Amino acid sequence: TAVVRLRCQLLYWYDQEKRELPWRTLAMTESDLNIRTYAVWVSEIMLQQTQVATVKDYYNKWMKRWPTVQDLAAATLEEVNQMWAGLGYYSRGKRLHEGAQKVVTELKRQMPQTVDSLLKHLPGVGRYTAAAIGSIALGEVTGAVDGNVIRVLCRLRAIGANCTSPAVTEALWDLSNMLVDPERPGDFNQAMMELGARVCTPKAPLCSQCPIQSHCHSYHKVHVKQGQNSRKL
Ligand code: ADE
Repeated sequence: TAVVRLRCQLLYWYDQEKRELPWRTLAMTESDLNIRTYAVWVSEIMLQQTQVATVKDYYNKWMKRWPTVQDLAAATLEEVNQMWAGLGYYSRGKRLHEGAQKVVTELKRQMPQTVDSLLKHLPGVGRYTAAAIGSIALGEVTGAVDGNVIRVLCRLRAIGANCTSPAVTEALWDLSNMLVDPERPGDFNQAMMELGARVCTPKAPLCSQCPIQSHCHSYHKVHVKQGQNSRKL
């Protein structure tokens, strides 16, 4: 079916083109779910308002200093803020620290291991972040819709206006949940993010390099229009 082909094409491209990022390497090599979940949580909080290139070094330093959720819980807020210096939006670091202490005191040192429980227990973790952690670290089959993915999906379905309106956002979550690859949900979601960051960019998207061009309603619209124009000319 079309959906199966879209998944295959997107994941094939991702396997060839993805950037090697430390939390991706970890998700491939680490088998301890508690550590996977902690590491992806840290990366996703850092990535909430900061670019991938900047996050890399901070993430590596952080994980070296506090390799487990217990280590983070034992730190002081001053240490956390020092480590965060330069990343901005300091409340993010504070929430990681609070969350870690909560995990240690209330959850017997076990990171929440479903999307629902991530949402329920971790401060600063909303719908997108819970879905990202759940799919990437835990293999839970859920879509994950952030700003980049909104743009990609709106183009895919040629939704022109109001892409960030609540009703459209709901529809995009439904679409994302339908599209996500049940075998590789975390890679699928990261491939969508990667596509948004590198190919389906806000201005001047690189449609000629897009692995799912053939599925894209926006591309077809523009393409058909150009075809008609060129016939007229
Ligand atoms: N932005 C948010 N999460 C990301 C991830 N896992 N990889 C790349 N960019 C992201």
